[in-house]
Amino acid sequence: MVLEWTRDIELGIQSIDNQHKELIELINKVLEACNLGKGKETVGVALDFATSYAFKHFKSEEGLMRERNYPEYVNHKSFHQEFERDVTALKSEFDQVGPTISIVLKLNRLLVDWLIKHIKNEDRKVASFIKSLG
Ligand SMILES: [Fe+2]
Repeated sequence: MVLEWTRDIELGIQSIDNQHKELIELINKVLEACNLGKGKETVGVALDFATSYAFKHFKSEEGLMRERNYPEYVNHKSFHQEFERDVTALKSEFDQVGPTISIVLKLNRLLVDWLIKHIKNEDRKVASFIKSLG
């Protein structure tokens, strides 16, 4: 399965959309590596990227929300923290046991299920709010 950039992911705020595009690219690289049977070789790099990129991306979204006084900021930020916790736990599992299929599957689930759902639901709410400000 390869994810495509579709309108239901697009939020209409260019800076955020561009960052989300990079995340989708990462997810696709991981999925492709898995299809080629190279999941284990790729998972370490993907984890590093997911950790650093997602954290940076969350900070920039959070900055935007604060700037515009987004009313659900605290709630949204707690979702980001949940992802950060999960990906950090996965990273330390990786550091301890090395690449395993279980870690590959967990990373896939985290990236595909969590991130895409988050973009479609929570980030979309932020985008509608910001756009409503005109
Ligand atoms: Fe977000």
